[in-house]
Amino acid sequence: MTALVRISGLSRVFDVSKPLLNRLIERLPKAMLTAVSDVSLEIEERTVYALVGESGSGKSTIGKMVVGLLPPSEGAVEIDGIDLASETDAKKIDAARSEIQMIFQDPFASLNPRWRVRDIINEPVTARGGKANGLAERLLDQVGLNAADAVKYPHEFSGGQRQRICIARALASQPRMIVCDEPTSALDVSVQAQVLNLMSDLQEEFGLTYLFISHDLTVVQHMADRIGVLYLGRLVEEADADALFETPRHPYTQMLFAAAPKMDGFGREVEPPKGEIPDPISPPSGCAFHPRCPIAIDRCSRERPEMRRVHGTRVACHLAE
Ligand SMILES: Nc1ncnc2c1ncn2[C@@H]1O[C@H](COP(=O)(O)OP(=O)(O)OP(=O)(O)O)[C@@H](O)[C@H]1O
Ligand code: SF4
Ligand SMILES: [Mg+2]
Repeated sequence: MTALVRISGLSRVFDVSKPLLNRLIERLPKAMLTAVSDVSLEIEERTVYALVGESGSGKSTIGKMVVGLLPPSEGAVEIDGIDLASETDAKKIDAARSEIQMIFQDPFASLNPRWRVRDIINEPVTARGGKANGLAERLLDQVGLNAADAVKYPHEFSGGQRQRICIARALASQPRMIVCDEPTSALDVSVQAQVLNLMSDLQEEFGLTYLFISHDLTVVQHMADRIGVLYLGRLVEEADADALFETPRHPYTQMLFAAAPKMDGFGREVEPPKGEIPDPISPPSGCAFHPRCPIAIDRCSRERPEMRRVHGTRVACHLAE
């Protein structure tokens, strides 16, 4: 197997300072928020890589950098050997871009309400000068909708159906990879499973590679081949899905597991991970997880644990073994 995506030392910092005048009056320094910090990982072709972590851990920011919607502050993303940020050959950039698509959490916001579904789905092809030739109708059929739906508008569909339309559009340019950013978290629990099954079937059928982003480990359990766990913008653990579910080695991953199965009747987490997520503008020293970690020692607040290999798992914790 070869890596389709190679992410190395990827970081993204946002300037979240107040306007200059306010800063001068209030004597405030610039405020920089590190959303993603030194993330390195590889995604093998035709596999599903799941990125999990709480809200604000940097999942979407990584997804946007992978598809080229956001430039990295440091580090690089290579798609099939092409670095979108440093490549200068426009043809190569265009080719790499068309190989990778993104599906977002909110299927309504990402569909143009004034366009017919046919035009929405065909757009990735027609925008590049290609002919659609019944493409939208074929894809609608493939995502479990009706070819006759092509003449309708997005508001005529349910949330789950709209996400199917987004999936059809993502498939239109025959990508090799799709970044799926919480594609089912805005949907009803009953519809979630259907859409996940569809995505899983399409992945096999078309030999796709997914970067699947979710805050919910139970959602990725059946789909993921490999899982990366993010905490405050850093990768803290990465392992094959089976290994991670069997032996989570990082205390944060263990905490996520402890919370995951406890859902109430509406599919909501009854007991989310304990403790507050720290402020990413001034993260805790050493291991950023130490204020919440049940087994933290002195060293943890002083020294940041490097990522290291423990029995095939990559884990960043001083005590993991
Ligand atoms: N354009 C931006 N400007 C400033 N800060 C940003 C920007 N985008 C993201 N951030 C910050 O970066 C951090 C990571 O955000 P990101 O959206 O990647 O998290 P996430 O893991 O996708 O969270 P969620 O599960 O809520 O979608 C957050 O603290 C967020 O406030
Ligand atoms: S390095 Fe220390 S604080 Fe961080 S997860 Fe490991 S034990 Fe907990
Ligand atoms: Mg997000």
